[in-house]
This record gives sequence, C-alpha cells and structure tokens, in this order.
Amino acid sequence: MNADARACMLAHAAVLRHAGLRAEALDLCDRLIAAAPADTHPVQLSCEIHADGGENALALARIEAALSRGVVTGALLERAGALAHACGDVVRAVAFWQRGLSVDPALHEAAMRLAVVAIADGRPDDAARLLDRMCAVGSETADRTMSAAMLLRHFGHDAAAEAFVDVYTALAPDTPERTHRLASLGRGPVPMRASADYVRHMFDGAAASYDINLLAIDNRGPRILASAMSKAGLAAGAGLRVLDAGCGTGLCAATVRPVADRLIGVDLSADMLAKAAERGQYDALEMLDIVDLGSAFPHCADLIVCMDVLPYFGDLDPVFTAFRKAQANGGYVITLIEDLSGAEACRFLPSGRYRHDRDRLIASARAAGFAPPTVEFCDTLRLEYGQDVVTRCVIFGP
Ligand SMILES: C[S@@+](CC[C@H](N)C(=O)[O-])C[C@H]1O[C@@H](n2cnc3c(N)ncnc32)[C@H](O)[C@@H]1O
Repeated sequence: MNADARACMLAHAAVLRHAGLRAEALDLCDRLIAAAPADTHPVQLSCEIHADGGENALALARIEAALSRGVVTGALLERAGALAHACGDVVRAVAFWQRGLSVDPALHEAAMRLAVVAIADGRPDDAARLLDRMCAVGSETADRTMSAAMLLRHFGHDAAAEAFVDVYTALAPDTPERTHRLASLGRGPVPMRASADYVRHMFDGAAASYDINLLAIDNRGPRILASAMSKAGLAAGAGLRVLDAGCGTGLCAATVRPVADRLIGVDLSADMLAKAAERGQYDALEMLDIVDLGSAFPHCADLIVCMDVLPYFGDLDPVFTAFRKAQANGGYVITLIEDLSGAEACRFLPSGRYRHDRDRLIASARAAGFAPPTVEFCDTLRLEYGQDVVTRCVIFGP
C-alpha cells in the first residue's frame, strides 16, 4: 500500500471515529499498522479511539506495542506518560516523560507534568529547574515562560514565578493575550471580563487541538449537562429552541440535540465555530458575544446552555441580562461556574479565568429578573495540573 492510499485510509478511520464507529475505525488502524509498522499516525489514532471510550489501559498498550516495535517518538512517550498517569501509575508516567524528554527536549507537556510531580513531592526547586530547561528549548519561548509562571503561581510558589513573569514581560508581543495574562499574574488591573479580542486570540489558537486536549484533562462538561437536563426533566423529543452560548467546538451538541427542535451555537472564535460546524449537529452557528444574545435572539430560547463560559467573566451581570432577554417565556438556563467557596465573590486566577462564589451568581441572576435556581449541584468539571476543578451547575427553570 503506498503512502497516498495509507493517508486516505487514515482519514477514513478518523471519520469513522467521529461517527462513533469505533470497531471499524480500529480495524482500519490495525490494517495500517500491519502495512507500515513504523508509521506513528495509526498508532496515535487507535490510542485516541480507546481513550475516547475511557479505555486508558488499552490506549497505553497500543503505544507500548509501538515502542516494542522500535517506533519511539517524543510525542508517543509524552502521551504514554499521560495515559499511565490517568491509570494511576505515577512512577511509570514519570519514566515515560523522562524518556520522552531525552528523545525530544522540547516536549512541553512532559516537562510541565514532571514539574507538577516534583512540586507534589515537595521539590519546588527541581520543578523550577525543569521549567527553566523547558523555556530554553523550542520556539515558543514566551508561551512556555507563561506556562511556567502559571504553574508555579497555581501552586503558590509566587517568588519562583516572578522570574518567569519577568521573562514573559520582556518577550511577549503586545497582544490582548499579553495584557490579560499579565493581569492574571498580578501585573496589571483585574479586568471585568476576558476581552473579546483575548477570547478570539486564545480560542482560535486552541481550536485545532481543543477536543483532544479536553479529553486529556478528563473534561466532564457534556456529562454534567446530561445530568442537569435529566434533573430538569428535559427529555428527548422536547422540541425546544436551544441556544448553545459559547458553544466552542460543539462538545455539548450531541447531548443537547435530542431535546432541540432548533439548535443554534454562538461563539466569539471563528476557528472554534468552524470545528463545531464539522459536527453537523447545529442548525446555525453565529459569531457573537454572549452579552449580545438578547438583542440577537430576543425571547427566542426555550433553553440556553452555557457550559464553561462564565469563567471568562468577572462581572456576571451583563451575561444574565442577556440570558433574560434571550429567554422565551417559560424557558430554562443551564450554566456553570468554577465554584469558589470562600469569603470572596470572585477571584481572577493565574489561569486567566475567574472563579465565582455561588451567591454572586445568584445575585446577578436575580438582578436580571430570574427566580432562584430550581436545581444546583457540584461536580468535577475537569483536571487542572492533575487536581479536580470543582464546578457548580445551576439551572434556572420556568
Ligand atoms: C472552555 S470553552 C467551552 C466550550 C463549550 N461550551 C464546551 O463546553 O465544550 C469556552 C468557549 O467560550 C467562548 N467564549 C468565551 N467568552 C465568550 C463570549 N463573551 N461570547 C461568546 N463566546 C465566548 C470561547 O471562544 C470558547 O469557545
């Protein structure tokens, strides 16, 4: 089989994966691996098909089989480390990441994950050394120094973080991202929200690898949405007009589609919207700021779904005002915040996101005219540096 035929077959396997035809997609991968055992692409694809289904051990076995055939790349070793970690085997994960870095010193993820392990082991100096080395290789030095600063800040190593922030300040071009990132690290006034320019810049850059990255951090947004819909009594065939506010690549589309007669996704990022379009689940997709939902769709939505978007707002008042205007009489809103249980109403995090107190969210909703929520529950949204990010899902009902 020549290279063109193999590329066609690989593309076909990817389509089968997206269509949920796992066995068929894996079968194609196996045939490709048999035809060209040194090709890493079918190995990576088969690995991700298993990981999609939560079969991390099987995904890891795919990479180990390739390694034993002598197919050794930094990317495979980095992924093997993440999978071993997801299987609870930190020792093996560390070994994969170290080996990965010896093959390819520019591996960003492996260096970050090893730094997190070093911090967890009480070796912050080792973490800083690893991060230093990570910043010294590869072409994306500004991004790498920012990642290093964020990680150290996240774990409270503020003094060590400062050196990286200095380097970032000197290197980063003057973009909306630079302003936002520096503010999130205490070098500038806290903005009321992530600006539209920052959101576009960041998510256009993230769109291509968004879905795979979210899998790696165990994103549970769609599952939380399914649970919220069931608690609200929303069942397939409800025939609702649904707005997916901040739809991203459409990860929640398959969950909400069965209750929708018409499903519209809105987002600020053109590249995220393009990915959402590939799913073929939306009736329409629009580039729009969610604070403009009310004027774009006045009293049109029987259900507004807004998953993992409020963390890009400090002040939630304009968002709930927009939801209220877009909501049809008797409509629902399902949304979530990163839950801040403390004295503060809102905290701007080193990640550049905002965490909110539950009462702050309710106050914004009430000010916009919403009755108290009909249902609330907490769950883990995803992992950040291997730790649970606790989210509060809130449903406003008719
Ligand atoms: C973390 S992603 C979540 C995507 C999707 N809701 C999901 O659950 O997978 C956040 C999305 O919100 C979008 N976003 C952030 N602020 C926005 C705003 N003010 N208006 C519209 N979209 C926004 C981003 O472009 C990004 O696609």
